[in-house]
Amino acid sequence: MDVKKVAVIGGGTMGNGIAHVFAMNGFSVNLIETKQEFADRAMSTIQKNLDRMVKKEKIDEGKKKSTLDSISVFLDISEGVKDVDMVVEAVPENLDIKTSVWKQVDEAAPDHTIFGSNTSSISITKLAALTSRPEKFIGMHFFNPVPVMKLVEIVRGLQTDDDTYDVVEETSKKLQKVPVPVNDAPGFVSNRVLMPMINEAIFCVGEGVATAENVDEVMKLGMAHPMGPLRLADFIGLDVCLDILGVLYEGFKDPKYRPAPLLVKMVDAGKLGNKTGEGFYKYD
Ligand code: CAA
Repeated sequence: MDVKKVAVIGGGTMGNGIAHVFAMNGFSVNLIETKQEFADRAMSTIQKNLDRMVKKEKIDEGKKKSTLDSISVFLDISEGVKDVDMVVEAVPENLDIKTSVWKQVDEAAPDHTIFGSNTSSISITKLAALTSRPEKFIGMHFFNPVPVMKLVEIVRGLQTDDDTYDVVEETSKKLQKVPVPVNDAPGFVSNRVLMPMINEAIFCVGEGVATAENVDEVMKLGMAHPMGPLRLADFIGLDVCLDILGVLYEGFKDPKYRPAPLLVKMVDAGKLGNKTGEGFYKYD
């Protein structure tokens, strides 16, 4: 199947980035949000990121315009998915919200439509089972900032069939991304490897081994990471990090995933990183 039209559900940090890359690579995109003001915010972020690409001479004004013209906004899931070949869901990491969204999508989308979730921690097999077509359900895990990061971690649920995988792999390549297949397991590969590193960095700060700045310097200069783990934790959101560690801890019942007490305290204090203006660092 040749995917031409996609619906992206959720216009937050991940959703607007996903809509941006689909539209920029020739797909027609229905961007679905719950309120006009959220949709407006998503479109203005996409415009800002396209402007940045024009300034860096990665695209021209014509490409920027055609990308924006390829995105249509919908405030109703049933309307937005009724004639698409693929749905990519990027709503908050909350099982109740995802359940309600996928039930509506399942009722309204055509039979051939492939279902992809950008979840970073919820079981793909579990989400797939909410729908009447678990064989067409797959994880399409993008990374922030989506227009920049090359990876799509493609997560196969227990019932995902080979045809679905093949279409999603092909589509990811058309987005100029590198698809990497993994099987469904808590945290997949990306977060199973990343989150223990971030957690251990937070233990180092909590135990007074080094300051946040110095932990980050060690990992940036010694390990060539573009951002240190604590700046990255702020960028991802400390609440999101804590949630994912919870999924690993529960999923494997292994104490090695126990969240650092300092992480729990910072989330309790509302210091969630970039989005609240303060985490391990302060932001304007
Ligand atoms: N849209 C388009 N382009 C963007 C962009 C955006 N939103 N954000 C940055 N860029 C571009 C910049 O224009 C710049 O382009 P050039 O290379 O042409 O100059 C390039 O990306 C680098 O940006 P900056 O110069 O502003 O800053 P930087 O060099 O410090 O890079 C960064 C910023 C790309 C975020 C880099 O620090 C980085 O790669 N950090 C690690 C990010 C990471 O690990 N993300 C994964 C998080 S985990 C996740 O998302 C999933 C999960 O499940 C938790």
